[in-house]
Amino acid sequence: MLMRRASFSALAIALAGLTACQSSGTPAAAAANTNAMPPRLGPSVEAQTMEQAGEYLTIVGSCNDCHTQGWAESKGKVPPADRFAGLDVGFRGDWGTVYGKNLRTITQRQSEDHWVEVLKTADGGDGHPPMPWWNTAQMSDRDLRAMYRYIKSLGPNTKGVPRNLKAGVEPKGPYIWVTPKTGP
Ligand code: HEC
Repeated sequence: MLMRRASFSALAIALAGLTACQSSGTPAAAAANTNAMPPRLGPSVEAQTMEQAGEYLTIVGSCNDCHTQGWAESKGKVPPADRFAGLDVGFRGDWGTVYGKNLRTITQRQSEDHWVEVLKTADGGDGHPPMPWWNTAQMSDRDLRAMYRYIKSLGPNTKGVPRNLKAGVEPKGPYIWVTPKTGP
């Protein structure tokens, strides 16, 4: 009788443990899974996974245009493996010349929270045009995180990108003059 009670309570404890595991285990497992969805606070893109939402957002958000070599020339046909490794064409203005950074390296090295912070604050006020900081600042956290997860999921790509140049320094490679000029 004592034995039975003991084994019953052992079973009860085991069951309680299992239930506890299931109820607390699901969110923990989901957090480790990259498909875990951050809460929806305002408008955001609907997709089966965060990575799919991210891929879509980077395309319609024009991110490839300045961060993927050959995107415009191929009319958006660059395979995912070659996307977001940075642009060799500089954007020159009163601020100097800046380059669409290699976001493959950045997403491998920086945290998702840092990515959100950079895109919300124009890199703490240090970011230059034509990167559309004013638009990314208005994107929902969830969409910003989806883009990070998508780009990170592409893995590292070590393609080099020219360093930013100070105003007055002549770029060696190709560049686009971004600030308006008035004709004669
Ligand atoms: C018109 C060109 C252009 C577009 C469009 C663009 N970017 Fe950029 N982006 C740049 C340039 C140029 C820089 C570097 C700015 C600087 O150095 O001050 C940059 C910088 C960044 C950085 C900061 C990298 C760092 O150094 O930490 C991130 C992150 C980023 N872009 C993400 C995006 C995302 C996401 C999108 C799409 C929503 C996007 N960009 C669209 C040109 C662009």
